[in-house]
Amino acid sequence: MLRGKRILLIIGGGIAAYKALELIRRLRERGAAVTPVMTGAAEQFVTPLSVSALAGEEVHRDLFDLTKEAEMGHIQLSRVADLLVVAPATADLMGKMATGRADDLASTLLMATDTPVLIAPAMNVRMWEHPATQRNLSVLQGDGVAVVGPNAGDMACGEHGPGRMSEPLEIVAAIEARLGDGPMTGRRVLVTSGPTHEPIDPVRYIANRSSGAQGTAIAQALLRLGAEVVFVTGPADAARPEGAQVVEVETAQEMRDAVMAALPVDAGVFAAAVADWRVASASDSKIKKRNGALPVLDFAENPDILAGVSGLSKGRPPLVVGFAAETDDVVANATAKRARKGCDWIVANDVSPSTGIMGGTENAVTLITAEGAEAWPRASKAEVARRLAERIAGALGSARKPGPRDGDTS
Ligand code: CTP
Repeated sequence: MLRGKRILLIIGGGIAAYKALELIRRLRERGAAVTPVMTGAAEQFVTPLSVSALAGEEVHRDLFDLTKEAEMGHIQLSRVADLLVVAPATADLMGKMATGRADDLASTLLMATDTPVLIAPAMNVRMWEHPATQRNLSVLQGDGVAVVGPNAGDMACGEHGPGRMSEPLEIVAAIEARLGDGPMTGRRVLVTSGPTHEPIDPVRYIANRSSGAQGTAIAQALLRLGAEVVFVTGPADAARPEGAQVVEVETAQEMRDAVMAALPVDAGVFAAAVADWRVASASDSKIKKRNGALPVLDFAENPDILAGVSGLSKGRPPLVVGFAAETDDVVANATAKRARKGCDWIVANDVSPSTGIMGGTENAVTLITAEGAEAWPRASKAEVARRLAERIAGALGSARKPGPRDGDTS
């Protein structure tokens, strides 16, 4: 909930400005008040009338509005808010922010404020990847500006890649993580989920039976406690958790790269069923039948993502939670796995077909910590997730507000 909070929303001039309308609705639904500010370019994409109708407040547009200066100068305007949100944050706005330019109302407010700032970048993929934008991004992060997105995907300009503005609910989650009042507010958590697919050739792959249901439920439970969640998922059947920053991957190697890119986090929950091996000799073209001759597949071991993160000497999350999918001697195997992988906790479950857990709606887990094994009663995956999220919140202690050098890259 954001009851009693005031967001100063700066709408930049990009095609994603239309999503700002939905963002205003979602923020107001949660009890926040929204003071809208539009750049001149933003007015080319959405009308001030729609913005003010949804916000229930007038739109601020002009730096040199004497009437407003008499009532409430732009300095005050920037300070009455609990958070400044820039959505969409265009390449131009990011550039102005990074270099300290103040030549219109939006950039002046951003210079004049001492309130935390969150930006949701949106631009063409080439503009996002341009060294100038990446330089500006690091400067802004160094200045303590928080960032949500951008996501990868199809863009309005017809290209594909990172640059698409985060969905309104993802931006709301990032705002709630900073301003909400849950026990995980201000915490950033990584959750891996689902199976991985390891290609044999362009049409065939090796997979496993993970549905991703437990990972999605954990992400949802963490979001409900106010956490900001980065959800790295393989090709899973389960719905993606609303409000999380979702990163879709296919292979174990892609999952490892996405996990490393998501750090630093306060906790990592590794619920994915990562394939242990990939086909080293994966073919670039479809393997054809050849008169009864059988194909021979060579395997290579995949990186162990959990062990890799647990063993980081720099940037290891303060709490690392692994899972253990076992069919025999669950507690003994999972206890050994905890030591072998170097994680803090292991959530062990019996995935023998008779339990119906893998791909099912229930789970029966044993939590293995340094103190020993704790069997939890069989319950829905949502209930197991709720309990685990509360344990994580308890282990991390009371929430800390993001500091000026947190510089997250969500
Ligand atoms: N895991 C990982 N990277 C891998 C394999 C597993 O991060 N390449 C993580 C899983 O996400 C899970 C934990 O390690 O949190 C244990 O996964 P599991 O499949 O039970 O263990 P394995 O390492 O595969 O061991 P084994 O197959 O020998 O039981």
